[in-house]
Amino acid sequence: MRLSEGLDAAVAALRAGRLVILPTETVYGLAADAGNADAVARIFEAKGRPRFNPLIAHVADAGAAEAIALFDDAARRLAAAFWPGPLTIVAPVRSGDRVCDLARAGLDSVAVRVPGHPVARAVLQAFGGPVVAPSANRSGRPSPTNFADAVEETGPSAAAVLDGGPSAVGVESTVVSVLDGRVALLRPGAVTRDQIEALIGPLATGEHGHRSPGRLTTHYAPDAPVRIDALDALRPGEILLGFGPGSGDPRWSLSPTGDPREAAANLFRLLREADREHPAGIAVAPVPMTGLGEAINDRLRRAAGFVG
Ligand code: TXA
Ligand code: MG
Repeated sequence: MRLSEGLDAAVAALRAGRLVILPTETVYGLAADAGNADAVARIFEAKGRPRFNPLIAHVADAGAAEAIALFDDAARRLAAAFWPGPLTIVAPVRSGDRVCDLARAGLDSVAVRVPGHPVARAVLQAFGGPVVAPSANRSGRPSPTNFADAVEETGPSAAAVLDGGPSAVGVESTVVSVLDGRVALLRPGAVTRDQIEALIGPLATGEHGHRSPGRLTTHYAPDAPVRIDALDALRPGEILLGFGPGSGDPRWSLSPTGDPREAAANLFRLLREADREHPAGIAVAPVPMTGLGEAINDRLRRAAGFVG
């Protein structure tokens, strides 16, 4: 199928209240018309997602985001610096918005993002309204970072599927909340803490931070138990995901050169591939906290069962 035909089919499916497998630069999403509560309910069913966990509204540009959410100066600067790209901004919802209550899990805030992937952008421009798209995995499982994995996870629930190649970033977008004059990091991602603080100053911490409902559940977990920061000898039957030169079998390396960007792009694919071997466990070498390392370690901690 030519891409233009795929785009037409995807937009028609969205208009009809059906679901679409949508590539983005972070991970693949399962998309629906944000204003159609029946369509949004289908997403929660397809993923087995708890209804208290709100979705991200994807839009074509910052103007469309501000039609949904109330931005202060900090939110505008973040949008100008990092959109289109792997940043989601949680801000107060405007009244009479086009993102239905179910998609927001009843909250008075809304998460908005302008993705950078050309296929996602083309769909959003052609559709003309906000599109909610959680990662296309079933709830609690690693996010899909290529077309085949997305189709395996939630393909049967989708009326249209779009192949945008492997996801360049490989971990979900950075989520920041900009509420009550404070900016808090809710989920680390490819837009790093340092980049955000260089732009708008120190992020809120501790009791001044905000909570994200999606962070309260186990996440990103393969079937095999995951052991992180593995420095000691491998236990029987374990597969080691290495990091850097001389760290285990290169076939299972997150990044043979020790590059956090490469490790992020490979992370969820390697967790899935290791899982398919039915190992006794998956051990993961330490990954430094620099750059994308914060996001990688965050996902690995959750895959290993640490929550919160
Ligand atoms: O990279 C991404 O963001 C991908 C691609 C497909 O765009 N999408 C994604 O969506 O990761 P999802 O639903 O898997 O994760 C959305 C996260 C959840 O942790 C959710 O709790 C949080 O955003 N979130 C959404 N609305 C929120 C709100 N109003 N307040 C706090 N957190 C919110
Ligand atoms: Mg997700």
